[in-house]
Amino acid sequence: MRLTKQRAAMIAAGIAVVVVGVSAGLGWWQVALTMVAAVQVAGVVLLVDIRGRMARSHEVRKVSASVRKTHRRLDNVGTRMLAAAEKNRVETADGLASIGQALDERRVAEASLQKELSDVAASVDAHRARVDAWGAQLGDWHGELEAVRTSLAETGQRVSAALDEAEQDRRMQDKRQAAELARHVRQTEALIQLYDRVQPRAAMPSSGGWALDPTGVLTLLEVVRQRRPELVLELGSGTSTLWVGYVLQQLGAGRVVAIDHEERFAELTRANVAAHGLDDVIDVRVAALTDPGLPTHETPWYDHAAMADLRDIDLLVVDGPPKATGPMARYPAVPVLAGQLRDDAVVALDDATRPDEREVWHRWRRENDGLDVWAVPPGDALKVLALNRSAGDEPA
Ligand SMILES: C[S@@+](CC[C@H](N)C(=O)[O-])C[C@H]1O[C@@H](n2cnc3c(N)ncnc32)[C@H](O)[C@@H]1O
Repeated sequence: MRLTKQRAAMIAAGIAVVVVGVSAGLGWWQVALTMVAAVQVAGVVLLVDIRGRMARSHEVRKVSASVRKTHRRLDNVGTRMLAAAEKNRVETADGLASIGQALDERRVAEASLQKELSDVAASVDAHRARVDAWGAQLGDWHGELEAVRTSLAETGQRVSAALDEAEQDRRMQDKRQAAELARHVRQTEALIQLYDRVQPRAAMPSSGGWALDPTGVLTLLEVVRQRRPELVLELGSGTSTLWVGYVLQQLGAGRVVAIDHEERFAELTRANVAAHGLDDVIDVRVAALTDPGLPTHETPWYDHAAMADLRDIDLLVVDGPPKATGPMARYPAVPVLAGQLRDDAVVALDDATRPDEREVWHRWRRENDGLDVWAVPPGDALKVLALNRSAGDEPA
């Protein structure tokens, strides 16, 4: 048991009572009185203490009441605060729940969005891959288009060049046709004039082709008409032989000796000569081709023996041998027969537009000072040279 002040005072009072009693009993009054006085003092002290305690107790009660009041207030406040806190907690919990729900929904939405984004990204990747593939394809097409464009440009240039060439060809063709037409006109005009001068007694063999053109025959007949030759030597017999024979017959003077290297053509010409009644002016002879005996000339020529008897030839018509016999086939005519030509003889060369005959013509003129151009009708194949030698001049 705890020894409080009150218990100690009561114990002390008890002891004092006992002492007072004992002292009084013993007659020790002084002690008893002292003890009574001490007990009184102690009682006073105790009363004072009790009063103090009571005051303090009252104060304590007041404080306690105040504390209780305060406590109640605090309880109220606490209750209200708890209620408010609970309300807040509930609201907060609700809010948190709704935030959580919202967060969940948002997470779901985000997950869905994420998935959509990833789908979109995958789709974008796929599209990008396709676009890249298209880009590559477009690049290829571009390259191909470029190649096609280049090819088209080249084709265009080729077509343009071909068109230019075709246009040039057309112009050349036009020119050729115009020239051919002009040639036909000339030949027709010449034929009309020929048949105006000569009325054949039989059908005339064709002119042109292997034979002299009508223009050549007309030129030849003009030479005969002007020169009135006594002796015409024609190398290469055929249609022209007949025309010359007709004109000589008309003129009443002169004869033709026609040489052919082929028996069958000589025979054909003879038959025509007979059919046209020209035997008295035309003598057809055969001369085989042989070495003409000229230095640096190898192509065979007519055997000179077939014409060795001829003197003072007025007109030498060189229309053979054919070019197929060899190069410069007709060249020997002038050098071989120069000594048998009259000083003012005329030499007519057919096919003079061919390269070989052009060279023959130029060589004759180079090698014979007195041989000049007499008639060169433009465009005609027959060219005519006239010899202009003084009597006694040595033939080349
Ligand atoms: C260019 S031709 C000369 C023909 C003749 N000077 C004339 O203009 O009628 C030369 C050679 O052709 C040959 N020939 C002659 N008559 C022929 C004919 N009807 N067809 C093919 N060739 C012929 C002969 O060998 C003659 O020597």
